[in-house]
Amino acid sequence: KVLILDFGSQYTQLIARRVRELNIYCEIHPYNKIPTSIEEYKAVILSGSPFSVRGDDAPHPDLSQIRGKKPLLAVCYGAQYLAHFSGGEVAPSNTREYGRANLDFVKENEAFFAGISRGSQVWMSHSDTIKHLPTNGVLLASTHDVENAAFKIEGEQTYAIQFHPEVYHSTDGKQLLENFLVHIAKVNQDWTPQSFVEETVDGLKEKLGNDKVVLGLSGGVDSSVAAILLHKAIGKNLYCIFVNNGLLRKNEFENVLKQYEGMGLNVKGVDASARFLDTLKGLSDPEEKRKAIGNAFIEVFDDEAHRIEDVKWLAQGTIYPDVIESVSATGGPSATIKSHHNVGGLPDFMKLKIVEPLRMLFKDEVRRVGASMDMDKDLLGRHPFPGPGLAIRILGDLTREKIRILQEVDAIFIDNLKSWNLYDKVWQAGAILLPVNSVGVMGDERTYEKCVALRAVESTDGMTADWVNLPYEFLQKTSNEIINKVKGVNRVVYDISSKPPATIEWE
Ligand code: XMP
Repeated sequence: KVLILDFGSQYTQLIARRVRELNIYCEIHPYNKIPTSIEEYKAVILSGSPFSVRGDDAPHPDLSQIRGKKPLLAVCYGAQYLAHFSGGEVAPSNTREYGRANLDFVKENEAFFAGISRGSQVWMSHSDTIKHLPTNGVLLASTHDVENAAFKIEGEQTYAIQFHPEVYHSTDGKQLLENFLVHIAKVNQDWTPQSFVEETVDGLKEKLGNDKVVLGLSGGVDSSVAAILLHKAIGKNLYCIFVNNGLLRKNEFENVLKQYEGMGLNVKGVDASARFLDTLKGLSDPEEKRKAIGNAFIEVFDDEAHRIEDVKWLAQGTIYPDVIESVSATGGPSATIKSHHNVGGLPDFMKLKIVEPLRMLFKDEVRRVGASMDMDKDLLGRHPFPGPGLAIRILGDLTREKIRILQEVDAIFIDNLKSWNLYDKVWQAGAILLPVNSVGVMGDERTYEKCVALRAVESTDGMTADWVNLPYEFLQKTSNEIINKVKGVNRVVYDISSKPPATIEWE
């Protein structure tokens, strides 16, 4: 496996993505927590950073266990760090160097640049520049503005580049990573979904033995794939709980429960709708609603878990982006866990040990792992759906009637996306019930009814998103069907805001 030391760059996760695309397993660790089991890693990559190496508060880790002992690739800040502390010179550049550049010199017959020629486009993002190479440095490539764009250290397997190979705009970036990892560091390309399943199932068997494990299923991709992996490892000792909070999509509780049973899972469906609606009564503030739902979930789940005798473990579908510890721009490593994700959100008094079989996977890898276990395509392709469900798509306070209206509207929208073959082209879609009534006319009567917004976005991780340009004809038919079929709605609008500055959900 490969170690990526994070100096806080916004691109660190992208380095990991690119390495995984080469079917090579890698882990990100903060620069100030270098793993003690360093001998397990076959190569090390140093990330970029928002800091200047010349600053007092910049990351200055001790690399003596790594440098000269393992193949090392230093990117951007990493490259400057090597230069600055090994006899080179780093200084502010005259012009800040951002964006596109092309290599106008590439040293010939270098394994590191095999298959990459002069003219190759690279992406720069730095304000310091390497004025002089470090001791034993050999220049490998330059661009028009950056003479020392790539170098190696003679006598070591140490390589450094000023540009970012991990961004798509560096057109040969993946080739460069392959040259370094596969041809120079000789790392095996053996990370495949099948190998992951085999290793994980063996590992779970050993770890869990005959212990009982409880898992909360949500109907989403992550918890479902986690359940199937655990089921393969421990069979009936996996107790799944699927809670109906009354805020799911239309018929979702019944349908998904049946699907889980069909997959052979030992699953208990708990209909706690009334309890959830009760605790939500009168609440209209989004964060208060979220809190109330979170607490109710914990209570219901805890009640159910206590009915399982002797349960020792709590399994969760946590994935890599939820757990990566990265370095914040203000220093010190900080956990970038989104508050609205239920990671580690269960109470201490449950005293269960935690098992998270997907902890090291990115979302698309979770889908690939699921597909390699022959899981249902529709389930694996399901759009993300927020834990608090329709509660945060009904702006303001909740009533049964509002939930019914939104479920009907949402079902028409989603069914139409599917029948028009648009569902898979959209990252996430849903309907929002607005807290306003507006005037309409139906037949000869004036109406004063609800307005709903439709939202469909493209995204890769939910951090940024753009609205989808759905065909007018689709919008026309869908709007018409909603107004004709859903009693209480007389107006439909389409949300054309990107994130940022808007968010995907309205609350
Ligand atoms: P926003 O609205 O922040 O949403 O742009 C980004 C992604 O997160 C989901 N989301 C939530 N998921 N609990 C969740 O489990 C929540 O409270 C929550 N709020 C937003 C949202 O659906 C989108 O995928």
